[in-house]
Amino acid sequence: MELPQMPELMGLSLLLGLLALVATAAVARGWLRAEEETSGRSAGQKANGCPPDKSLKSKKQKPQQRIRKEKPQQHNFTHRLLAAALKSHSGNITCMDFSSNGKYLATCADDRTVRIWSTKDFLQREHRSMRANVDLDHAILVRFSPDCRAFIVWLANGDTLRVFKMIKRDDGGYTFMATPEDFPKKHKAPIVNIGIADTGKFIMTASSDTTILIWNLKGQVLSTINTNHMNNTYAAISPCSRFVASCGFTPDVKVWEVCFGKKGDFQEVVRAFELKGHSAAVHFFAFSNDSRRMASVSKDGTWKLWDTDVEYKKQQDPYLLRTGHFEEASTVPCRLALSPDAQVLALASGSSIHLYNTRRGEKEESFEQVHGECISDLSFDITGRLLASCGDRAVRLFHNTPGYRAVVEEMQALLKRASNESTRQRLQQQLTQAQEALKNLGALKK
Ligand SMILES: *[C@@H]1O[C@H](CO)[C@@H](O)[C@H](O)[C@H]1NC(C)=O
Ligand SMILES: *[C@@H]1O[C@H](CO)[C@@H](O)[C@H](O)[C@H]1NC(C)=O
Ligand SMILES: *[C@@H]1O[C@H](CO)[C@@H](O)[C@H](O)[C@H]1NC(C)=O
Ligand SMILES: *[C@@H]1O[C@H](CO)[C@@H](O)[C@H](O)[C@H]1NC(C)=O
Ligand SMILES: *[C@@H]1O[C@H](CO)[C@@H](O)[C@H](O)[C@H]1NC(C)=O
Repeated sequence: MELPQMPELMGLSLLLGLLALVATAAVARGWLRAEEETSGRSAGQKANGCPPDKSLKSKKQKPQQRIRKEKPQQHNFTHRLLAAALKSHSGNITCMDFSSNGKYLATCADDRTVRIWSTKDFLQREHRSMRANVDLDHAILVRFSPDCRAFIVWLANGDTLRVFKMIKRDDGGYTFMATPEDFPKKHKAPIVNIGIADTGKFIMTASSDTTILIWNLKGQVLSTINTNHMNNTYAAISPCSRFVASCGFTPDVKVWEVCFGKKGDFQEVVRAFELKGHSAAVHFFAFSNDSRRMASVSKDGTWKLWDTDVEYKKQQDPYLLRTGHFEEASTVPCRLALSPDAQVLALASGSSIHLYNTRRGEKEESFEQVHGECISDLSFDITGRLLASCGDRAVRLFHNTPGYRAVVEEMQALLKRASNESTRQRLQQQLTQAQEALKNLGALKK
């Protein structure tokens, strides 16, 4: 009785096996198409044009089906001042950096990639980016080298610094190559920030204990700074490259000078000056692009703007120009960004951003729930026309209307004092440009 049925059974199981293969291939081709380097199965060829068919499901397919990723919900945000949203990362973006020539924005995310965006596309419909893979790890911080021929990242798992060379190709794109050796592992606590001096003379890394390390570009430690903040929350190099500053659990911002000899040889790190006036821990600070202004935000619920254009060697202290209130700062950690010209302060807490003018300390714009996660980085572009923020998988770019209004005010004041026609024309042109920009954004009120 059983024998005659054997061929039939064999045929059936063969057929089932084939169907399973076809289904597997369909899953691999159709659903995983967006994934890189996934659907390299030989069965793929046989299944050309075959849509995934639910009736073909069998137990054998289960493992394949699990590969199918639910596309995470994209956070939706709209605002009349939103200039663009850069979307290509598939993980949360933790850090951004504009190159000093203004051409590029680098972003890094926990999807194991660094993306380099062209800033000239920002106001276009399409936003192209070039991708650098961070093998077997992911970057949590990224910074361009001043010549824009390399970038450095901090590795989340490796817990150290890696240098990527940016090699320009004939087609205008770049090839990214990690240098063979990562920096030696020196920090004993989680990293809070990294930076490269604009002179190219040193690299800074700071961790959440009280350590800041100054390195040469080859990965040798030149100096170790103990900040005595109890815990560092942030540290950065000034745009002029002379200073390194830090803040943390103590109510001050400390500034050091990193000294080099005439031949460019490292000499020493010396205490320069401090920003004193907050009454609680300082969350964050920033420099203006000429390093003559600094802004800070503290757990005491205020932000402060400082004039740091002082000769500390002659015992001059920086002085306080303005204090503004920011209640959120007393309960949650905040970040801030100062526009290049120091006219606008952006403060971020949670997923919201607030823009203040620094002349009068007034709040001019608020953007709520900008990202699906807490804002992880905030930065003006080098022209000061756009503010970039990140947190979830997108970078959002905002028109800096308070910046345009500051230009309008400044030009109107200068015009009153202009002594000759050529100056008057130049000022009038800048005034008209800023007014036009505001008009186009529907923001031409005071
Ligand atoms: C965002 O918008 C898209 C399309 O309009 C919608 O499918 C999606 O559910 C929205 N996401 C959230 C988190 O609201
Ligand atoms: C990253 O994003 C996902 C959602 O896309 C979220 O669940 C997660 O909490 C985020 N944060 C981190 C640190 O992974
Ligand atoms: C504060 O510093 C100590 C070492 O001084 C470190 O162990 C701890 O992780 C730091 N705290 C935070 C929140 O990073
Ligand atoms: C600072 O930025 C402004 C644009 O806001 C620019 O005109 C100026 O040249 C920059 N200064 C420096 C020192 O980079
Ligand atoms: C016009 O005035 C400015 C100062 O306001 C001065 O720097 C400039 O040289 C003057 N130009 C002419 C053509 O007189």
